Amino acid sequence: MCGIMGYNGRENAIPIVIKGLKNLEYRGYDSSGIAYFKDKMIKIIKEKGRIIELEKLLTSDKTNVCIGHTRWATHGKPSQVNSHPHIVGGVTLVHNGIIENYHTLKEDLMQKGYSFKSETDTEVAAALIDSLLSESKNKIELLEKTRKILKGSYAFLILFADEKETMYALREGSPLIVATNETGNFVASDIPAILEYTKNYYLLDKEIAVIQKNDVKFYLNNQEVKKELLTFNHDLVSAKKDGYQHFMLKEIHEEPVLVKNFLDYYLNNFDLIPDISKYNRIYIVACGSAYHAGLIGSYLIEKYGDLEVIVEVASEFRYRKTFLDKNSLVILISQSGETADTIASLRKAKEYQAKTLGIVNVVGSTIAREVDQVIYINAGCEIAVATTKAYTLQVLTLSLLAYKIGLIKKIISSKEKEIILKDYQVLAQEIKNLIEFDYLKFARKISQEKDVFFIGRLIDYYIALEGSLKLKEISYIHSETYPAGELKHGTISLIEEKTPVISILTDQTIYEKTISNIKETKARGAYSLVLKRKQFYLSNDIYDDLIEIPNATDLVSCILTIIPLQLLAYYTALELGYDIDKPRNLAKSVTVE
Ligand code: F6R
Repeated sequence: MCGIMGYNGRENAIPIVIKGLKNLEYRGYDSSGIAYFKDKMIKIIKEKGRIIELEKLLTSDKTNVCIGHTRWATHGKPSQVNSHPHIVGGVTLVHNGIIENYHTLKEDLMQKGYSFKSETDTEVAAALIDSLLSESKNKIELLEKTRKILKGSYAFLILFADEKETMYALREGSPLIVATNETGNFVASDIPAILEYTKNYYLLDKEIAVIQKNDVKFYLNNQEVKKELLTFNHDLVSAKKDGYQHFMLKEIHEEPVLVKNFLDYYLNNFDLIPDISKYNRIYIVACGSAYHAGLIGSYLIEKYGDLEVIVEVASEFRYRKTFLDKNSLVILISQSGETADTIASLRKAKEYQAKTLGIVNVVGSTIAREVDQVIYINAGCEIAVATTKAYTLQVLTLSLLAYKIGLIKKIISSKEKEIILKDYQVLAQEIKNLIEFDYLKFARKISQEKDVFFIGRLIDYYIALEGSLKLKEISYIHSETYPAGELKHGTISLIEEKTPVISILTDQTIYEKTISNIKETKARGAYSLVLKRKQFYLSNDIYDDLIEIPNATDLVSCILTIIPLQLLAYYTALELGYDIDKPRNLAKSVTVE
């Protein structure tokens, strides 16, 4: 989604801001722009498309204060005029988030004589702040007033025409950090923007930040407040491609090491995995791939922990009637920790006094900070928009939660425990072996088709959902997933000669039923690609191509099975020549509703 970067310091701010924006490109955007003072006047340069288009418009100007933005269109199509920064009177700003009451504000402001060039809510916010300038000369008071009027979630970085040396930042909901080094101060929506300049940053919450060359001050309710300077301790290396053609491929190759480190750490510190057996109602709430991880988690917790789990998409959960109370647990899963709907669901759970547990990657993110307890998946920076390593570690976390309840409730016998621990032990190596398999030959066939179907039953259906999402988001091939038994209730009419049907067969309790469903698609001419557990027998008239998954308990097998599906999606998109790390219309972290 949108990215913010600003610099105020002794160096030339323009290349620093451009570099910062480039570091945020992975988040997805459709236009970009910068603003700075030139001869006492604000100069704005902005353009539709990639940052490279913006760079073509840059001059030899030098400045010490500059604000910049990458926009992901919400209000108004991607265009030069809709891109940020926006200037109205004495106010120039960039904005992440959404102003919910912009429509009424716009009407009021038009009555006061303001006119608007763009379709954005951002320009309305700039006009609102400008309209308040006459009422209040004190900028802190002015921004506090602004906060009271605006509804929604937002982060602003602002330049005022009468203060050439100062940047102001205001945050409500959307993430924003202020970072600092020996040359000056930075403002960014996300840590990767500033990591090559500094690892030291302040996390803005509801404060207003006043950023000067040599100084940063924070204000809350018109009073100055002190904030703790934090240090980002993760490895910068993970934000580089390290010789891989794409971040997505690099991140898949990181999985064995990450899985090994995760298991070494949490199995040796098993008390960090909470006992969730005491709750009378468990919800898992998340979006996209994290939601799919949640579905697998529900299966594992129900099977190994004998506890019912309700899994909900966060954008639904936040609005639906729920039956939460203080004996309920809501597990929120989020790589970024900043997904707007997941944050709203967390806050709803808290309103009902339910306990909250976060499974989060980004350290210090909103969800990580607001939940009662957080389990960090420690995946490092995930740059590719399509999640792979974070998803795998989310599932692994849920696997450990299920394993723990299984032990506590003695559902897992000591013999089974030994088998499970052995499976965990060899998991990293098995992932490595699966990564080395040749998926390109299957991808070539799939890349020639318009529609793909994924089928499976129970946990295999949940795995299939994620495989299908991976494929469609980066290859743009239409793909649908069905519980295998559901196909003949309508969808089978779409199966034609050569239509790929990818079937997942790992669930011991049900795979024979799925085999009958595969036969039904084969009989209608489908190209059948089967991912099956090694130990299952499958006669060769059921598949055209076969990928075998090592035998393992469900706690582990669900992790192994996703690896071929991640790579299948990757190689299909590669074959089609798409921009794999930055698929169209998508953003890495979805900070608006
Ligand atoms: C798909 C993908 C998305 C995210 C979803 C939730 O590859 O990455 O579906 O899983 O947007 O994001 P987080 O985990 O940051 O809350």
